[in-house]
Amino acid sequence: MDLHLHIDHSAGAVTVQLTSALRDSIRSGALRAGTSLPPSRQLAQDLGLSRGVIVEAYSQLAAEGFVIARPGARTMVSACATAAEVSPVDGPVQPGAVAVRYQLRPGTPDLSLFPRSSWMSALRHVMTSIPHDALGYPDPAGVPQLRDELAAYLNRVRAARADAQHMVVVNGVALALSLVTRALASQGRDLIAIEDPSGLGQRELLAASGARLVPIPVDDEGISVAALSLSGAHAVLLTPAHQFPTGVVLSPARRTALAAWAAETGGHIIEDDYDAEFRFDREPVGTLQGLLPSHVTLTGSVSKSLAPGLRLGWMVSPPPLAAEVARLRQLLDLGSPVLEQHALARFLGDGGYDRHLRRARKVYRRRRDALANALAIHLPQAKVRGISAGLHLLAELPAGTDDEAIAAKALKLGVTTSPLCPMQTHQGVPGLVLGFAVEPEHRLGEAVRLIATVV
Ligand SMILES: Cc1ncc(COP(=O)(O)O)c(C=O)c1O
Repeated sequence: MDLHLHIDHSAGAVTVQLTSALRDSIRSGALRAGTSLPPSRQLAQDLGLSRGVIVEAYSQLAAEGFVIARPGARTMVSACATAAEVSPVDGPVQPGAVAVRYQLRPGTPDLSLFPRSSWMSALRHVMTSIPHDALGYPDPAGVPQLRDELAAYLNRVRAARADAQHMVVVNGVALALSLVTRALASQGRDLIAIEDPSGLGQRELLAASGARLVPIPVDDEGISVAALSLSGAHAVLLTPAHQFPTGVVLSPARRTALAAWAAETGGHIIEDDYDAEFRFDREPVGTLQGLLPSHVTLTGSVSKSLAPGLRLGWMVSPPPLAAEVARLRQLLDLGSPVLEQHALARFLGDGGYDRHLRRARKVYRRRRDALANALAIHLPQAKVRGISAGLHLLAELPAGTDDEAIAAKALKLGVTTSPLCPMQTHQGVPGLVLGFAVEPEHRLGEAVRLIATVV
């Protein structure tokens, strides 16, 4: 098989060149789903590279979900990778969409709930009260008023131990991940463990920021710390409050084990607290950062609580890393727009954010209940997981079900969903990740009925 891969031997970084050439061929469809890649020894010979380079490129692509590594068999292009484009954070976007009638794809809150009038009052307050000087270049780490408000909020609501001094305001969790990955990589800590399954877009973002990825299985208690310990990873990206996409909450035993892992290995934990504001049937689980502040970077954003288009988020790191992150932020783009930062500070400070969350939580709880009921009625064969928090749940389907085919057929009926398959690096349980934030209760029943017709 001629793969038409062009490697410039004089340009260095051949592993990166090979990985990206293969990734591009898979994305463009030149390498189709199901195609077996040549054995590493043969490709090494064809390209005049060492076998280790090929093995590393294959394992990176497996971690990113582009290929499936099969013990004793040839590495194969994954069905998931070619069928899907990748969105910045939360996985595949199904292409060629017919008119969307029911939006059950996870990732966004109900944007019609955005508190327009209170946001406008906050902005008006900012415009009439900030001095001219505040419109100059800001502190790249964020305006101090916002960092103070966010630290107080995270400590009160998320049981964090955030210090405004060590916080950087970012354009969403996405920027936090790319900054912390670059900061860790600059210290030679570039082997980052990720949850398996996890968001495909996040994996691509980490890889693009210089990380080598190692997938670690997630079970009913969260990530396997035993497997993490064996992986030799320098850091791990976790969604402990509500694992994306399974919805599992990290168990107390695993938290303790993670603390031991961090203490023994000096490993760093990147805690993505992306939807923790929404919890329905249980007490909120505090952040890992509150437990282990010197080993954790905590990050979150208003993308689920207000709107992703605001591009406002935060990250808190232990002091030496926080300084490096702030330095990188300055080098990257000199910081975030100030008016929105001041508006969010005002919104947090005058209680508007808490009021909005209380209101939104009630709406989402009703939608969550309606989706769970509809699944029990129309799709009783599905095992529903992860419903106690967040804005999505996982409907596991019987073994052997082709979740991608189902998602594609549901899309033809106008229902968007996210199949689980592209989020796993090994062929695991099939399922649909379903968001319940956008559709009102009375529409969720019909949406699930349509999905059931194609299962
Ligand atoms: C797992 C996960 N983390 C973080 C985010 C939010 O990213 P951002 O804050 O950059 O909008 C999302 C959004 O869908 C997500 O699914």
